[in-house]
Amino acid sequence: MADSKPDKRNNRLFRNTSGQDELFEKSYEEEMEVRRGQPVECLGLTFENEDARRAHFSGELREGLQELHSKLGGIPYTSDDDAVARMAAIEHWPMGDEARLRGVAERMRHADKSKDLLQRWKDEVGFPHGEIEDILNLSDPPWHTACPNPFLDAFVEAHGKPYDPDEPYRRKPFAVDVSVGKTHAIYRAHGYHTKVPHLAIVPSILHYTEPGDLVLDGFAGSGMTGVAAQWCGTAPASYRKSLEAQWSGEGFGKPNWGLRRTIQNDLSPIASFIAANYSLPFDLDAFAEAGRTLLAEVENELGRMYETLHIDGKTKGRIDYTVWSEVFSCPECASEIEFLNEALDRTSGRVRDTFPCPNCDVELDKDKLERVFESDVDAATGDVWKHVAFRPSFIRYTVDGDTFEKQPDADDRELVRRIAGLPLPAEIPTNRLPVENMSHGSRLAPKGVNFAHHFFLPRAAHALAALWRRANAHANLRIRHMLLYFVEQAIWGMSILARYAPTHYSQVNQHLSGVYYVGSQISEVSPRYNLGNKLSRLIKTFDRARAQGTSGCIATASTTASLGIPDNSVDYIFTDPPFGENIYYADLNFLVESWHRVLTNAVPEAIVDRFKNKGLPEYQRLMQRCFEEYQRVLKPGRWITVVFHNSRNAVWTAIQEAMLAAGFVVADVRTMDKRQGSYRQITSTAVKQDLVISAYKPNDGLDARFALTKGTEEGVWDFLRTHLGQLPVFVARDGRVEVVNERQPHLLFDRMVAFHVLRNVTVPLSIGEFLSGLNQRFPERDGMIFLPDQVAEYDKKRLAAEEVVQLEIFVVDESSAIQWLKRQLSRKPQSFQDIHPQFIREIAGWQKHEKLPELSEMLEQNFLCYTGAGDVPSQIHAYLSTNFKELRGLPKDHAALRAKAKDRWYVPDPNKAADVEMRRTRALLREFEEYRQSPQKRLKLFRLEAVRAGFFKAYRDQDYGTIISVAEKIPDAVLQEDQKLMLWYDQALTRSGAA
Ligand SMILES: C[S@@+](CC[C@H](N)C(=O)[O-])C[C@H]1O[C@@H](n2cnc3c(N)ncnc32)[C@H](O)[C@@H]1O
Repeated sequence: MADSKPDKRNNRLFRNTSGQDELFEKSYEEEMEVRRGQPVECLGLTFENEDARRAHFSGELREGLQELHSKLGGIPYTSDDDAVARMAAIEHWPMGDEARLRGVAERMRHADKSKDLLQRWKDEVGFPHGEIEDILNLSDPPWHTACPNPFLDAFVEAHGKPYDPDEPYRRKPFAVDVSVGKTHAIYRAHGYHTKVPHLAIVPSILHYTEPGDLVLDGFAGSGMTGVAAQWCGTAPASYRKSLEAQWSGEGFGKPNWGLRRTIQNDLSPIASFIAANYSLPFDLDAFAEAGRTLLAEVENELGRMYETLHIDGKTKGRIDYTVWSEVFSCPECASEIEFLNEALDRTSGRVRDTFPCPNCDVELDKDKLERVFESDVDAATGDVWKHVAFRPSFIRYTVDGDTFEKQPDADDRELVRRIAGLPLPAEIPTNRLPVENMSHGSRLAPKGVNFAHHFFLPRAAHALAALWRRANAHANLRIRHMLLYFVEQAIWGMSILARYAPTHYSQVNQHLSGVYYVGSQISEVSPRYNLGNKLSRLIKTFDRARAQGTSGCIATASTTASLGIPDNSVDYIFTDPPFGENIYYADLNFLVESWHRVLTNAVPEAIVDRFKNKGLPEYQRLMQRCFEEYQRVLKPGRWITVVFHNSRNAVWTAIQEAMLAAGFVVADVRTMDKRQGSYRQITSTAVKQDLVISAYKPNDGLDARFALTKGTEEGVWDFLRTHLGQLPVFVARDGRVEVVNERQPHLLFDRMVAFHVLRNVTVPLSIGEFLSGLNQRFPERDGMIFLPDQVAEYDKKRLAAEEVVQLEIFVVDESSAIQWLKRQLSRKPQSFQDIHPQFIREIAGWQKHEKLPELSEMLEQNFLCYTGAGDVPSQIHAYLSTNFKELRGLPKDHAALRAKAKDRWYVPDPNKAADVEMRRTRALLREFEEYRQSPQKRLKLFRLEAVRAGFFKAYRDQDYGTIISVAEKIPDAVLQEDQKLMLWYDQALTRSGAA
């Protein structure tokens, strides 16, 4: 390490392109201090050097962990009071205030009776499973802890900006494009399930925050939010330039570049370990050297295990990989069949569907084959281990840079046999897989994979163990962690999960992602083959972009519990929560975490997983608690961006419900339109793709005022004014104005209702009263509602735009049908005969449970018809005089005009809308009453709009029993997918005490 002060211009660690970033300058100095071993400052303390800092905080963490064990361990749960008193007595761990401790104790009470106080607390906060020393080994406190991070409070105190209600802050929702940046080298430096690229997050952070602000991600996974926050300060000039040009084109101001601070948390220790290694600075030269030494030493130690005799009979070749084939038996003649030898067409690289038995010639396919099992003594447990049989099928090796393939000869087979006889290396994890609680357990157990070491063939086990041992032995903790971060990436690829993929050029990491799947053909790769290029890529990547200083903290805990951050302290939240039941993170992380000997505590994991007895309601409850924690720590008036892959509409409803119930107000929901490369607003729930939800925490002013005016009309309009203030005023793309969905009267009504209901306040207005009040108070343009001061801005920009683009509407139910009719009739008032054939074409996708009302009924209930008597209504008049030359300029009572206007349906103007809405509500309630009285246990066909109207009324009348009884008649799937019904139903259950 250089002693002299490095030249800033030439030193490649120096990356400050703006030259003005105070935070960055500090980070730069920090790194230099580390390099020179000079004093470092950390959370208000000064240390001689980084090692001293580490020793101090590790000591504190150790004491805290030991105290937890001594004060909570081994004690049964007797009462909430006792649990609260004991937790409050923990000195080294922030436990939260009395109220929060009570909440924790209350939930701990319901835990498994056999668990002591400590384990119940750990399950509550998502404390990982692992020995104290293993947790300490994986941590670098205070920046990263492989358990809940007790230093977060101090971090916020040292670096956060206290909430100041008088500080002006205004932002409009901002949509991120999660598909951007998937090829960036930093994104690819370490894999993780469903990563969101940092370049997708950067614009959002720049939009919502200022340099030095605090950003939180409670489902941080591999830590892309942390990388993005750093990138805001370290982005290269080319990136800055292109983003600034893009923003200017979209009407945004110039971003305020500069580092942001972060707190990142994840339930999984391996996720937070990856995040830490992405986020914390390290000495690249030292890592590069250590990595090369590591590979060379392992090659030196185990190189002979990867030698094979070249086909020339004298030269030694180096094995790249050995392909193993599963062994089956022929159902006809019972002879052994090495699957790959018979089924693989080596020329095309394809597995044949059918092939003949080499012994009896009968035609076989994979389904006809019978599995062959072998039994050995399990080297770890000493028990009999029955597992499917694999044999080496062929070897790919290198001689002087050329590659060759061969069948294993007697020496190769002997080598494999001898390695299998060696004792299991100590580094190999031997813990049992919880197969009975794993969704992929049924794929593993029948093949004999029940313990972590069962994933590795003997040679791979020795190679990985040697890599791990050496990485773990490095004296410097930061380099040690980086080496483990590097080596752990070979664990899946060197296990039996790595499929042989003949049609792929490379056999590196050819396992299926997101699932434990052991195929019938495995490529057992050498460490050099798997990791050699990876190391050089990592060095190159981190040379270009890596953490410049410690700008954030990382924790391993459950966001359902208290993260240990003060109230109202976070400036912005970006988060990518688990989306239901697609990815089982704890299960999937089990294998790598077993090597680190610190495992996810899956009890509070927010997923849907029937193997862990977690259905949709459990998922929703867990998500709600996470959002409540987000709500607690976010500053009022600030924003949260939730990116979410919508796997199932019911999951989508659940997550929205959870957000609203936690107190957030949704201001924008968008999905990426992959064809057009732009974001689309969501008008219905029928989308299964990436969604971006922008929501805000109402500011103190609103909640305080609402406390005084709640349940009154004034409360409604106060909420509405505040909400309208948060919505985008003008959205245009390529000169075309977009209708802002959230500004449409019906959606505003829904938001207002949710705001009241979730605060347990009676909604004082019916929809008709609301619409009429809206009309009196707020200006309307293009079907959108504005604040008076916003409308001037809208009008001005609207003048310069070419046209208004309406949102796409898919007619799937009565509600979308009404929207569609409204659109058609406002463009062109028309008769029943004209609109009927168009309507019939639109309803092909009508949902099967939803009763299809007659078109005439929908028209009657929602629109007005001109009978030919009196003046022609303005809307029809305007349409006719614009489109028919001969009718231009005629007075509204002219006979020709009246004749042409007769029987045309039109959209009621705002003065009449409320009357129409009231008429419609009466009709819907009549229908609802029929459902209520119906003796049927399950309603097969019904009008959701009638159920919604009925639930709303029943809720206002505090008639929760009606809501619950009618909800029980509706199919679960329909109820769970309808956010409005779920809102009433959940509240009815809670209020009536049935939840
Ligand atoms: C979709 S992933 C996040 C991936 C991340 N955006 C990235 O780029 O790597 C969701 C994460 O939520 C974590 N998780 C699940 N339940 C959690 C809980 N209760 N508290 C905190 N994290 C949780 C999972 O371990 C997983 O890493």
